[in-house]
Amino acid sequence: ELSGDLERARGLIREVPDFPEPGVLFRDISPVLADAEAFRAVVYGMVRQAPEFDLVLGVEARGFLLGAAVAYACGTGVVGVRKPGKLPAVAHRVDYTLEYGTATLELPEDTVRPGQRVLVVDDVLATGGTVLATCELARRAGAEVVGVAVALELSALGGRERLSDLPLQVVFTA
Ligand code: PRP
Repeated sequence: ELSGDLERARGLIREVPDFPEPGVLFRDISPVLADAEAFRAVVYGMVRQAPEFDLVLGVEARGFLLGAAVAYACGTGVVGVRKPGKLPAVAHRVDYTLEYGTATLELPEDTVRPGQRVLVVDDVLATGGTVLATCELARRAGAEVVGVAVALELSALGGRERLSDLPLQVVFTA
């Protein structure tokens, strides 16, 4: 059962057919983030059952916004995991397969410390490739991934299964 703010947040998720490629139904949470109550309700929903963590890794681009909000709400730091070619100093790089094509993510230098407990945050869990690549970046830096939090899970794409036993906090499912 969803609160009123979460009900409205769900209604604000924009569905865009054939983006970025024909046949893909893109879910854009930008209108959710633009609404004060919806934004707060979603951030709270992402953290209320999360395990204890020391650091948030948020994935470009909407994962930056949610990740920063989650980190601020919980009193931790946040790291932006970037698409390739943006960072001046790369600590680790991982290539992975996306729902539509292939991709690379990079972790900035001097961010994740060995032994830290990391929460991975993104807007959408689809095939899980993005979250898994982010987990791999955290592990390469010597951190322990203790959980994943996303606003929206696209359950037909199998991301949850690929995360196996990693604790996953989801606000909306489609
Ligand atoms: C979308 C979404 C997730 C990822 C999920 O990102 O924001 O990061 O796809 O897909 P997966 O579970 O199959 O890996 P997108 O590539 O559209 O980038 P953007 O956030 O910069 O728009």
